[in-house]
Amino acid sequence: MKISKAFRASADAVVYEGDCRGLLEQIPRGTLQLIVTSPPYNIGKPYEKRMRLEQYLEQQQKIISRCVEALDMRGSVCWQVGNYVEQNAIVPLDVALYPIFKSLGLKLRNRIVWCFEHGLHCSKRFSGRHETILWFTKSDRYTFNLDDVRVPQKYPMKKYFKGPRIGQYSCNPLGKNPGDVWIIPNVKHNHVEKTAHPCQFPVELVERLVLALTKPGDWVFDPFLGAGTTAIAALIHGRKAAGAEIVPEYVKIIHQRVRLARQGQLRIRPMDRPVYDASKPYESKAKPVRIGPPHPTLFEVDLTLPAGRAL
Ligand SMILES: C[S@@+](CC[C@H](N)C(=O)[O-])C[C@H]1O[C@@H](n2cnc3c(N)ncnc32)[C@H](O)[C@@H]1O
Repeated sequence: MKISKAFRASADAVVYEGDCRGLLEQIPRGTLQLIVTSPPYNIGKPYEKRMRLEQYLEQQQKIISRCVEALDMRGSVCWQVGNYVEQNAIVPLDVALYPIFKSLGLKLRNRIVWCFEHGLHCSKRFSGRHETILWFTKSDRYTFNLDDVRVPQKYPMKKYFKGPRIGQYSCNPLGKNPGDVWIIPNVKHNHVEKTAHPCQFPVELVERLVLALTKPGDWVFDPFLGAGTTAIAALIHGRKAAGAEIVPEYVKIIHQRVRLARQGQLRIRPMDRPVYDASKPYESKAKPVRIGPPHPTLFEVDLTLPAGRAL
């Protein structure tokens, strides 16, 4: 697998160490099929300098507009955000950012609510247990592979009990549409994917977007790579990954995770694992994934399972 430090159309992955604007300058217009990111929220995390909200939005506007130029006409942008907090009042960042995307002509397809059960405990308001993903497309002709991300039906054997189709299955045998409320555990200290990065999103959250919104061989881009979660989700499904990270320590983590994935040793929480339910028996938490050898145009996906387990 070819990993490049600068953008090369022939590379399989591009990990740029530095400000994402430097990498975006190198990407030709219309190259990217999917942009998925979780930007800094301007809340004083170790990797960001807190600024006035207006200034933060101006900075985001510049990056988003360059991302949109680099996006293919059939492509999608997924911007994953939570809240900015100012004098104890919350500002939902998706609400603040929406006008930027709208002014660039993008179309909002879903506002996906990502729910999780763990996080800070608040005493003066209800504890925050969700964030959102704004999914926009550049045009009305966009890639959407619904069948690749269907989830099990609640009543899979349900049949018509009257009418011309009596006795036939009334639900899609491939499963149901996952909807726009996704319950996926966040990456806290006991999560199998946790690294030294303070704010990772889980691989399975990005996997669903990669599978639904791209084809094998497409470019998936993350301007704020962090620990490289977007790149991992793209590469394990045979897509090309590109992104930038400004903190050298996190860039090392990205390289380590990609290397482990290539060796079949990166443990991730599988997409099909049910959320932990204390009333049910507990299964092992993770499976290692391996990025297969590159095919002339695609990657081969090789999911190596622990001995004795079947897909
Ligand atoms: C919320 S974190 C992303 C975490 C990532 N989604 C993951 O799962 O690991 C945002 C990241 O953006 C990086 N960052 C901030 N400003 C940047 C910039 N201008 N260019 C590139 N990276 C930047 C920060 O260092 C931080 O690691």
